[in-house]
Amino acid sequence: MCGIVGYIGYRDAYPIIIKGLHRLEYRGYDSAGIALFDKQLKVFKKAGKVSDLENFVKDIDLGGSIGMGHTRWATHGAPSDRNSHPHSSGDRKLTIIHNGIIENYGIIKETLINKGHIFKSDTDTEVLIHLVEDIQDETGLDLREAVRAALNKVIGAYAIVIMSADEPDLLIAARKGSPMVIGVGKGEYLIASDATPIVEYTKNVIYLNDNEIAFVRREDLLIKNIDNTVQTPYIHELDLQLEMLEKGGYEHFMLKEIYEQPRSIRDCMRGRIYPQEGKVQLGGIKEYTEKLKNIDRIIIVACGTSWHAGLVGEYLIEEYARVPVEVEYASEFRYRNPIITEKDLVIAISQSGETADTMAAIELAKEKGATIFGICNVVGASIPRTTHAGVYTHAGPEIGVASTKAFTAQVTVLTLMAFYIAQQRGAITQSKLVEHLTGLNEIPELVERALKSDDHIKKIAAKFKDSSNCLFLGRGSSFPVALEGALKLKEISYIHAEGYPAAEMKHGPIALIDDSMPVVFIATKDSSYEKVVSNIQEVKARKGHVIAIVTEGDTEVKGMADYVIEIPQSDEAFVPLLATIPLQLLAYHIAVMRGCNVDQPRNLAKSVTVE
Ligand code: G6P
Repeated sequence: MCGIVGYIGYRDAYPIIIKGLHRLEYRGYDSAGIALFDKQLKVFKKAGKVSDLENFVKDIDLGGSIGMGHTRWATHGAPSDRNSHPHSSGDRKLTIIHNGIIENYGIIKETLINKGHIFKSDTDTEVLIHLVEDIQDETGLDLREAVRAALNKVIGAYAIVIMSADEPDLLIAARKGSPMVIGVGKGEYLIASDATPIVEYTKNVIYLNDNEIAFVRREDLLIKNIDNTVQTPYIHELDLQLEMLEKGGYEHFMLKEIYEQPRSIRDCMRGRIYPQEGKVQLGGIKEYTEKLKNIDRIIIVACGTSWHAGLVGEYLIEEYARVPVEVEYASEFRYRNPIITEKDLVIAISQSGETADTMAAIELAKEKGATIFGICNVVGASIPRTTHAGVYTHAGPEIGVASTKAFTAQVTVLTLMAFYIAQQRGAITQSKLVEHLTGLNEIPELVERALKSDDHIKKIAAKFKDSSNCLFLGRGSSFPVALEGALKLKEISYIHAEGYPAAEMKHGPIALIDDSMPVVFIATKDSSYEKVVSNIQEVKARKGHVIAIVTEGDTEVKGMADYVIEIPQSDEAFVPLLATIPLQLLAYHIAVMRGCNVDQPRNLAKSVTVE
């Protein structure tokens, strides 16, 4: 939540910062602001999107080769011009941008007000910069020391950048619990919430660690931890290409990412499956092979779409590896004193690798002695750096706020893990493994075929675009797919949608069914097919409109549903990977037809770094 970007070097800072803010806009788009130093410290900010800020400053001369920018997802203080970042000290000489939450800001603010500080916003961030100013006034400490002292007083999460009118060749950046990457160029540095604003200037990056403060000048960088010890940074090389961050001819990032799935699923499996040998290889967790043989239980923790992937994982792991699995919302798990032992394996799933609740769940499970694996998409993010081991999804940057290719990549990794654990524990025969892996290897091609129904799905979308409600039903591992289909529709089209296990419909949702209710069934030819067919009849008997996802060549459901969308026949284990595709497209087209902002739905953010 909230994106931050900073630049110091020899180029004009403004275009670099604005471009960076556009790249980070997925993190929040309630307001945007910039600070630049060009003979004096200048701050401009505006409620709305980055483009609103650009419009606001379009006639202003914006020079300077040092600056910073912020795109906000509001936590403390409603989205407005005055709550937008940067926030400044009382004397306007210091200014700050912040991603995170200062939890004890209330008490600090009260103390500062009693000392005469006047606040212009409702934010926790403004309190932090006044605190730095106050420390300087009281102690005469230089800015670097005053920032360090202030950070020692705050509780909460932050990634911050501070600029000072008195030291116009310095950016101070610090992090605790919110991500921050520093790009190292020649005579220039970039600072950002993720690597996307950096990649076109340099591939060399430093991931700042928690409790580190970076003092960044054109020609040098000094990193200290909050206790004042100098740190030796490790420079990583980015594996990110610029074209991955562009729409590549598609109208929206979401559509591009839906269409990327044959590739992203293949990338996720590359070098990891050997169908003819019946072998799965997962380098990231291979050191834990012995451990996997002895675990008693797997607990999957995640939020949002990643939680849905976890539910699919539960079916797969229990079915093939025969290990009991529990799937928990990270936000619930962290607060309920869960029973965890050293014989538990916790798998944390997160596209961004930064979700605050998932991070906290990992910390808790770690304290209790569990082994933690991560399944993450963003390389180098916080979660993969805190887990014991893990597997990257390699889906490439996902920019649309509604997750698509990251979900199918997570399900792919969980499928690989299920077979890997099954293989290690001897829970599956070699011939079965050969059969399943051969099927899995064909999935990218089958996803490609599933995408061919796009025009047909668009026509169905046109029929239902004005609906107010929609139900998604499935059984077995298609139940989490139904949940995911409902989430996609509600988050981007604002149509109220619910996912349910098809049989549970009788215990409540059936009361909602009438001739204005679309009901999407996942009715593929698998072990629950006949049961789902009965559920379809129950809906038809109550005049609901049925849209059914069926296996190619199905005639029975075709005869009773109002609309069918075919997906290719596959091994039952892989139906979630295929059945998700039409649901993503259905949500996408309905949202576009309703005039919604598909890539940046209201109130949402892609990376939820606050709880
Ligand atoms: C937000 C995003 C969702 C995502 C969820 C969990 O709500 O909008 O798309 O599924 O966070 O994020 P994570 O990065 O941990 O998968």
